[in-house]
Amino acid sequence: MSSPRKILVTSALPYANGSLHLGHLLETIQTDIWVRFQKAIGNTCHYVCADDTHGTAIMLKAEEQGISPEQLIADISKEHQADFTDFLIGFDHYHSTHSEENRELSALVYTRARDAGHISQRAIKQAYDPEKHMFLADRYIKGNCPKCKAEDQYGDNCEACGATYAPTDLINPVSKVSGATPIEKESTHYFFKLPDFSDFLKQWTRAGHLQEEVANKLAEWLDQGLQEWDISRDAPYFGFEIPDAPGKYFYVWLDAPIGYMASFKHLCDNTDGLEFDDYWAANASTELYHFIGKDIINFHALFWPALLDTAGFRTPTKICAHGFLTVNGKKMSKSRGTFIRARSYLNHFDAEYLRYYFASKLGNRVDDIDLNLEDFVQRSNSDLVGKLVNIASRCAKFVEKAGGQLSANIHHPELLNKFIAANGEIQAFYENREYAKAMRLIMALADDANAYIAEQEPWVLAKQEGKEQEVLDVCSMGINLFRLLMIYLQPVLPKTAASAAEFLNDDLAWQQNLQPLRSHTIQRFKPLIQRISEEDAAAMVTAEQADQEKAAALNAKNTSTTKQQTENTMEPIAETISFDDFAKLDLRVARIIEAKHVEGADKLLQLTLDIGSEQRNVFAGIKSAYQPEQLTGKLTVMVANLAPRKMKFGMSEGMVIAAGPGGKDIWLLEPGEGAQPGMRIK
Ligand code: 2FM
Ligand code: ZN
Repeated sequence: MSSPRKILVTSALPYANGSLHLGHLLETIQTDIWVRFQKAIGNTCHYVCADDTHGTAIMLKAEEQGISPEQLIADISKEHQADFTDFLIGFDHYHSTHSEENRELSALVYTRARDAGHISQRAIKQAYDPEKHMFLADRYIKGNCPKCKAEDQYGDNCEACGATYAPTDLINPVSKVSGATPIEKESTHYFFKLPDFSDFLKQWTRAGHLQEEVANKLAEWLDQGLQEWDISRDAPYFGFEIPDAPGKYFYVWLDAPIGYMASFKHLCDNTDGLEFDDYWAANASTELYHFIGKDIINFHALFWPALLDTAGFRTPTKICAHGFLTVNGKKMSKSRGTFIRARSYLNHFDAEYLRYYFASKLGNRVDDIDLNLEDFVQRSNSDLVGKLVNIASRCAKFVEKAGGQLSANIHHPELLNKFIAANGEIQAFYENREYAKAMRLIMALADDANAYIAEQEPWVLAKQEGKEQEVLDVCSMGINLFRLLMIYLQPVLPKTAASAAEFLNDDLAWQQNLQPLRSHTIQRFKPLIQRISEEDAAAMVTAEQADQEKAAALNAKNTSTTKQQTENTMEPIAETISFDDFAKLDLRVARIIEAKHVEGADKLLQLTLDIGSEQRNVFAGIKSAYQPEQLTGKLTVMVANLAPRKMKFGMSEGMVIAAGPGGKDIWLLEPGEGAQPGMRIK
């Protein structure tokens, strides 16, 4: 037998600026199935991923929430990992691009590229927000379309008439960040000289690392000639400062793929005998697989191999690109109700239905995949419950009645051999990411097993005298067929496979020469997979839509930066809380003993509060309403038992409560009779 392969596998790193949706899961499920398959057949396989944490969007989002970017990415990482775990994604390590390993590796890759002469610098002109003191990417500028004059269009194209233009062409452009009118400003940027790698890439993209359709698309770009790639961004930017360029940061897409290496480095540092160089050295004999979406092919199939090559590392063995996910035939969109977050799905269904559904549709091309919810429900019920589990549930009770031990006989050797003979083809389908073909073949076998049981009618035999052995033989045969199907399905249905292993008293080892179980004791059968209904799917869509509407309303309230913030709007009352919830709040009268400006914060003041028994440091978003000196000595009410929260500027130990419409009108208490610091309210 050939020695096991050693493979490092990655999925694209999700951005740490929002929740995962089913589009992300299409990719991680595709990858996880491949990894579980490799592990099951005895290969050494490591699966790593991380959150992609850098960039302007994450920086602004943290600011909007009044927390540090570090806090934001920590919160999101927790959420992402919980979602992935519940979808049974078996990462060997999940890291962050905002990590020491990544800082070091990014600096190393950059320095080597620079020393080899592949970095250039030049000044470029860009839109700049004079209030916020930051450069603005096109998506942060809005204005009227220069062609059709439609209002509120983005900096690079008009949604109304489809025109494309430069942000400088917009009429009345405004910065989405501050509402200011952007100006043009010059600054030096750093570039990776991708054209230096033209010949290398022409050869590399045709050397079997890519799907053919992907290689063809890239050939068009390569023929048109490559451009230098802008890898720097000016401060303020959440990312890594470029080692020899203070105030300049690596563009998020430079350090994102290096995050694959960083995550693996972390795994190596925590795993005995696992060596980073075995997988990343230029002459490594191991394999490296990247699973990605079709929208990020140029980063992975052009920039990435070129960067790795110049930095003296190996290049990927294969880049496996998949298409987009549509829902009910439509692009995922919040307004159409076709956007489904990972957690919304999990609130209504187990992971394995979706894992099976995606598997039953995935091939190895870059075609889009549609999640049709009606089909999803039907296919789950008919294949998983009606075909697969049905085999075991129909046979188990007769084996149990006969004492729980499978027969020594093989009742239908030909059928058994057919199941065993499919092993090679099924493995080849998994290896080539032809999961849909694998699922079709496996379900055709399940049909054969069900037809066999229906024909033998063990429930009829069981009523006849002297047929006990035959009943046991038929049902043992059924159980053995079920076992083979579960061996083949374990990459897709890991949880059901684990329950089946328990029921069968067997480890479902995926050997080359599969053998049946004979005279083998099994456990009591417990239902493995439940039927699902269209009502469940409808409930998921309704709940998701309600959440989206809530979030949109909240967002409109929080981010109307270009709107007057002082509008006196009536807030709808939020969802009610119980009296017990309310009683948990420890509200105290607090005296403001000091109020200070916070360097770099637009809305915050830093307050030192006296609550009688102790002093608290609190950051409060009331700068628009008060000068700090007006506040000293005033009384306010604070939530004294709110867990301390790490914000960008320090720890906030509570929250002050102020009434008013916001903006310049926020009302605090004047010191008056009766109220004393520390006094409990309610
Ligand atoms: O497109 C995205 O969602 C990126 N965050 C993917 C990064 S993949 C890798 F290069 F890090
Ligand atoms: Zn237009």
